[in-house]
Amino acid sequence: MAFQVEGKYALITGGASGLGLLYAKELLRNGLKGVTLADMSEEFGEKALKEIEEEFGPDRAIFVKTDVVDYQQFDNISILDAYQKTVEKFRNVDILINNAGILNDAVWEKQIAININGTIHGILLGLEKYFPKYKQGTEALIVNISSTAGLQGYGHVPVYCATKHAVIGMGRGWSDPFLYERTKVRFITVCPGVTLTPLIFDMGGRNMGGIYEEFLQKNGEKWVSQEPDHMAKEMVNIIKNASNGTIWVVEGGDPAYEYIPAERRGVLSKK
Ligand SMILES: NC(=O)c1ccc[n+]([C@@H]2O[C@H](COP(=O)([O-])OP(=O)(O)OC[C@H]3O[C@@H](n4cnc5c(N)ncnc54)[C@H](O)[C@@H]3O)[C@@H](O)[C@H]2O)c1
Repeated sequence: MAFQVEGKYALITGGASGLGLLYAKELLRNGLKGVTLADMSEEFGEKALKEIEEEFGPDRAIFVKTDVVDYQQFDNISILDAYQKTVEKFRNVDILINNAGILNDAVWEKQIAININGTIHGILLGLEKYFPKYKQGTEALIVNISSTAGLQGYGHVPVYCATKHAVIGMGRGWSDPFLYERTKVRFITVCPGVTLTPLIFDMGGRNMGGIYEEFLQKNGEKWVSQEPDHMAKEMVNIIKNASNGTIWVVEGGDPAYEYIPAERRGVLSKK
């Protein structure tokens, strides 16, 4: 069944720039009523709000300074604060896009904290505290942003790949029909391929040096990229149409396609 975007409210982590901001604008073009941009950067946040006001008029977006690594500390810069300000302003929250992420194996522990823990924080608060009370329809929606690095290895950033594989895993677990029947939260995982945002500019140095940098220098030129606007348009199609538990890839400027994990030949197939 399609997910209706019109009239809904969304919270987008890392929403003040890059792909997150484009997702916000494209959803607003498709009838989203309001959006919270939950992001570390105040500078990006102010600029993003101006752009949204110019295109869509006043009161369609708020910026909340947020570090997704910070979980519970209300009135600081936590993801809890971002949810709370969303419902104070808009009275509802229906969609979470867990988009905040960094690509930098040179600071791999921080990368794990943002890409994995940050994503889990958004999920837990949505499931336990906000969606049951503040969603408008029968279902809420969580989109977790993985990457093609969640489906294959890239030799310059193995830890980044690990974080994005983890995002695939949590989507598969949380979308289990047993949980869905109780939470009524639809989980979708989206894997962008290389997309031209600051995340992938100047990737040199954002690894553990040595052989990793060597791998990047040898292979970086080969990767086929796509425009961020294309990614954002495909994202809205996915949000409207994808069913619970599905995984979608958008790469090389092509239309989104569903990624179906390979069948196993072990115990499960004998049942
Ligand atoms: N660009 C690509 O090629 C590509 C490919 C696959 C997946 N992705 C994923 O898409 C997501 C967005 O990437 P992007 O290309 O727009 O990156 P970007 O660097 O352009 O933007 C990331 C945004 O996240 C914010 N952010 C960073 N750390 C944060 C934190 N701790 N709390 C809150 N906000 C934080 C930044 O301020 C920034 O606004 C990431 O999860 C990334 O891994 C990107």
